[in-house]
Amino acid sequence: MEKAVLRKLTTLCVVCGLVCLVLLGVAGFRDTNREWKYYQEDYREKLMGKLGRDKNPAMYQRVAEMKPELKQVVVTEWQTVDRCVTCHISIEDPLFAQAGQPLKTHPYPELLKQHPVERFGCTICHGGQGLATTYYGSSHEPIHNWPVTLVTKGLMQSRCGYCHKDFEAIKADKLIAGRALYQELHCAGCHQINGQGGAVGPDLSSFADKDPSNFSLENLKGSRSKQNWVIEHFQDPQRVSPGSPMRGYAMSDKQVEALASYVLSLNQREFTRKYTPKLRAGYLPPRVDTVLPEPELGTTSKVEADGNRDLRL
Ligand code: HEC
Ligand code: HEC
Ligand code: HEC
Ligand code: HEC
Repeated sequence: MEKAVLRKLTTLCVVCGLVCLVLLGVAGFRDTNREWKYYQEDYREKLMGKLGRDKNPAMYQRVAEMKPELKQVVVTEWQTVDRCVTCHISIEDPLFAQAGQPLKTHPYPELLKQHPVERFGCTICHGGQGLATTYYGSSHEPIHNWPVTLVTKGLMQSRCGYCHKDFEAIKADKLIAGRALYQELHCAGCHQINGQGGAVGPDLSSFADKDPSNFSLENLKGSRSKQNWVIEHFQDPQRVSPGSPMRGYAMSDKQVEALASYVLSLNQREFTRKYTPKLRAGYLPPRVDTVLPEPELGTTSKVEADGNRDLRL
């Protein structure tokens, strides 16, 4: 082989080797600098500070030896792997009630007792991308057309209604108000839920599970997600779905949120007993298609969206 060619090949090999080394270095750096490791380290340090070396030496030592590790909850029944607790590591630790996110204790500790983290995980109530281990990937903010954004604060009750059909039993004020609005505004004139109602618009019985790809997000003003589609569609169906026979109703923001929470809770999924709340004997959800005295359609409903203040979600 000619010397010049040989030299070129050697240079190529050296360059390739160097590139590989740099890539390996970057990979290594990224691995040791994962976001969640930083939060776990922060947790460890804060916990050591709170415990104090002298007060409980054994416990202190155990915390001091904690190594960063991926934490996850596997729920086979609905096939999710939730790694939210990798960052929200102290979600059940009352010592962190005043901490900043993601270390802050859950605002409703009793809710986590009723729905133990190791059995329910987080995404069944919060949505989001359970497998992800980054802030961005967990979908704290809507990712373009991403099907599983974190549920916004105002719509959290839609998740409760996903399992709890007796809204009164859990004092879910928004679901109660939303269901009443649905009835009062005669939505059933055009929509069916569980076989009751008209067929001008889509059947809403499984609306919670309807894939976000079915919604055209291009006419939205705010974030491009299914949940925001529902909100903006109620505010102005003509803008969001041009040509729709559905018209706008003059509703307050609270009422829109209540109605959206209600329709976003509707599903036909059946969980096993373990995940299905008991119902009072003979309980049947109220019908939503009964004909009421004609209300003034198109004007603000009399229903108070925040009538019951027990559960302020
Ligand atoms: C990489 C670490 C990380 C992971 C993984 C993570 N979070 Fe967070 N989370 C954060 C941080 C950081 C904040 C605080 C953000 C801020 O201050 O705005 C936060 C805030 C939140 C909030 C408060 C509301 C908000 O959006 O600011 C909720 C609710 C939440 N996370 C739920 C979840 C759920 C559910 C999951 C799993 C799907 C999850 N998080 C996974 C880091 C994480
Ligand atoms: C049974 C349903 C349920 C489960 C399970 C659940 N949460 Fe929550 N979570 C709620 C509700 C309801 C709120 C209150 C939302 C609000 O502020 O209006 C909340 C609030 C939060 C907040 C504070 C949001 C804020 O803006 O201050 C964080 C963070 C959070 N949850 C994280 C988690 C994580 C992490 C898990 C899993 C370990 C989890 N939650 C499991 C229902 C649940
Ligand atoms: C995956 C289904 C599921 C979701 C989502 C869910 N729950 Fe539950 N919840 C249960 C089950 C199962 C129980 C156990 C009680 C039982 O067996 O009846 C329970 C218990 C409770 C209890 C205790 C009182 C009782 O009826 O036994 C309350 C209160 C409650 N849930 C409220 C909520 C609220 C509020 C939300 C939304 C933030 C929510 N739940 C979301 C399934 C769920
Ligand atoms: C005049 C008939 C009519 C009335 C009344 C009506 N809708 Fe609709 N609705 C439609 C039609 C048609 C569509 C499909 C076109 C669109 O997206 O607007 C629709 C779409 C929807 C969707 C999206 C469904 C999906 O699967 O894409 C929801 C949710 C909805 N309506 C809820 C309601 C609620 C809640 C009310 C009562 C406040 C209501 N509608 C009143 C006709 C109606």
